[in-house]
Amino acid sequence: DTGCFTYDPGFTSTANCSSKITYIDGDAGILLHRGYPIDQLAEQSNFIEVCYLLLNGELPNEQQYREFDRAITQHTMVHEQMNRFFTGFRRDAHPMAVICGVVGALSAFYHDSTDINDPHQRTVAARRMIAKMPTIAAMAYKYAIGQPFIYPRNDLDYTSNFLQMCFAVPCEPYYVNPVVSRALDKIFILHADHEQNASTSTVRLAGSSGANPFACIAAGVACLWGPAHGGANEAALNMLAEIGTVDRIPEYIDKAKDKTSGFRLMGFGHRVYKNYDPRAKVMQKTCHEVLDALGGHDEPLLKVALELERIALEDDYFIEKKLYPNIDFYSGITLRAMGFPVSMFTALFAVARTTGWIAQWNEMIEDPEQRIGRPRQLYIGSPQRDFVPLNQRD
Ligand code: SDX
Repeated sequence: DTGCFTYDPGFTSTANCSSKITYIDGDAGILLHRGYPIDQLAEQSNFIEVCYLLLNGELPNEQQYREFDRAITQHTMVHEQMNRFFTGFRRDAHPMAVICGVVGALSAFYHDSTDINDPHQRTVAARRMIAKMPTIAAMAYKYAIGQPFIYPRNDLDYTSNFLQMCFAVPCEPYYVNPVVSRALDKIFILHADHEQNASTSTVRLAGSSGANPFACIAAGVACLWGPAHGGANEAALNMLAEIGTVDRIPEYIDKAKDKTSGFRLMGFGHRVYKNYDPRAKVMQKTCHEVLDALGGHDEPLLKVALELERIALEDDYFIEKKLYPNIDFYSGITLRAMGFPVSMFTALFAVARTTGWIAQWNEMIEDPEQRIGRPRQLYIGSPQRDFVPLNQRD
């Protein structure tokens, strides 16, 4: 049942819970959101529509879409007092540290108006979270670079608004590049939800105690930050930059195959996919689109990434262990080309994944059978023994 964890000797924990939101067939490389294939959603839908789908189970009709889009737009500002939270952080704090703190603080602002047993208040909390996450992430970026916060604009779509909050300055008009905005929308769709990954399981476990949803999302942000999870896009770009040129790839392939090196190819492998991550295919295509639109088609790191993928997919080690590129392998190159610093890559992942977190949280709270999660363990410590007073110990 929801939140019940079972351990196997390999100490890999699998969360057994039922959900209608996302289906993954790791062997076949299939990802469906409420039955719709991820590549069709990325190419034919938009992020706000996918948010509606994840939350409500069906694609919206025109009136439902307009109402939902307006409801999100009307919640994009954060309480003006929130600005003070940012000034308490060091300027060089990692944006994920700032976002984790500020999102947790939202629970202080909305705690008394979030009765999680009231479906309407859950819907309001979901819309608030989806609407405010881009604003908070953009504020974390602006704070880090010492620029003034830019207010959201209600005349822009979700991703164009996020881009202007990140890159506009009060001194001059900001032009949103439609190719970049559309590409970011696709990237948000690709990152929106992914079944019971580590951060979503964290949100579910925290939420199963009845905790405030904003505090639960903050827990998800903390988990996503790890380099083995959402931090991999940052780690993958740093790895590609360290490799630098295609002639150095064999050296890193050998290092990745040497267990004693502790080195893994970032953006490669997946706990569930033992085939090509379907998101990575769309991500690679989007990467080409953005680089072509921004004149970066000669991006040396893309050449390294494509050659690294080609060599790895022909290597017996990677074939035997079924290691393929995952969503993080090409996302870093794309986001950097859009103008985002590496430090913001995981923050962008968090903006998109907020929808999956809050949809999965809502699904769990709605379940009348849900109980507090209570993982068990395999005890491997000392057998029972009697206490020894200090003066009798060796
Ligand atoms: C995300 O769960 C999700 O859905 C996550 C995510 C989402 O959308 O929420 O998809 C997002 O987190 C994607 C993954 C991003 N992380 C990285 O790219 C970091 C690099 N990848 C690895 O650390 C690793 O692949 C993991 C963490 C993703 C999975 O780790 P596992 O579960 O240990 O991988 P595995 O059991 O499938 O590994 C099988 C073998 C192991 O060797 P053996 O113990 O069998 O000898 O392959 C090896 C691993 O050591 N291996 C790698 C490798 N990944 C696994 N060897 C070299 N390079 C790699 N990248």
